[in-house]
Amino acid sequence: MSGLDIRHLTVRYAIKGGQRCALSDVNLHMQGDDFVVALGASGCGKTTLLNCIAGFLPASDGAVLLDGVPVHAPGPERGVVFQKHALMPWLNVRDNVALPLLLRGVPTAQRHQLAQDKLALLGLEGVGDRAIWELSGGMQQRVGIARALASDPAVLLMDEPLGALDAFTREQVQETLLHTWARTRKMVFFITHSVEEALFLATRLVVMSPSPGRIVRVFEDLPFSKLFLAEGDARKVKSLPQFIALREEVLSLIHQREALYA
Ligand SMILES: Nc1ncnc2c1ncn2[C@@H]1O[C@H](COP(=O)(O)OP(=O)(O)O)[C@@H](O)[C@H]1O
Ligand SMILES: [Mg+2]
Repeated sequence: MSGLDIRHLTVRYAIKGGQRCALSDVNLHMQGDDFVVALGASGCGKTTLLNCIAGFLPASDGAVLLDGVPVHAPGPERGVVFQKHALMPWLNVRDNVALPLLLRGVPTAQRHQLAQDKLALLGLEGVGDRAIWELSGGMQQRVGIARALASDPAVLLMDEPLGALDAFTREQVQETLLHTWARTRKMVFFITHSVEEALFLATRLVVMSPSPGRIVRVFEDLPFSKLFLAEGDARKVKSLPQFIALREEVLSLIHQREALYA
């Protein structure tokens, strides 16, 4: 089967005196340009799920398959963006973006050209020679996204990538991310605990719940990212009656689940 296929995924961590079930029987299929957002309170297994897709963590039961091939280790077809940018301060912006290509032995001129292309895609033309510490937090996260795209991955995996940004910058980077997604047409798996961010970005929203971590509800065919891309006004989209109604529905769903485990 083409795309990303998560089948009956269960992850148990060994802890003192036993095991903790962090994920239980998670099933998810992504293909084409699906933008799947996983939303849920802290501890519901979002990072565990992303780490399994990235190949950082093995499944205890079940499997992750990309285009039918089981995932057992990290690979260039899965680009990862972390909450903290994880860029190398001793390399300039261009060399940071080109780093995954350097590790794969891509020749210098080709590496620089690809890095330049990815920076342009993120609206960062002209900053290739700058030092990482010279950039704002929002620009650093955009460099992180450019680096994750450098290897032309099949899927972009993002673990709360905008969580450390101020509210205004966060909204700007959401918009840049949607423009980049529209131009690259890649699958994206994105984690957040902001309901508004989730609804704005996702084509499909997966709501998770803890103890053990699992998917409790899926909202399919969300229209808001495409509305934004067609009309260009994010605040207008986020204040649509349909957006507000769904936001409240998702919030009350999460609060109900939290009350169950309080
Ligand atoms: N390495 C680990 N060892 C033991 N328990 C862990 C480990 N990593 C995460 N957990 C536990 O697994 C559950 C899910 O964690 P995590 O995937 O980080 O959730 P989230 O990203 O949704 O906050 C939590 O209860 C967490 O404490
Ligand atoms: Mg997490």
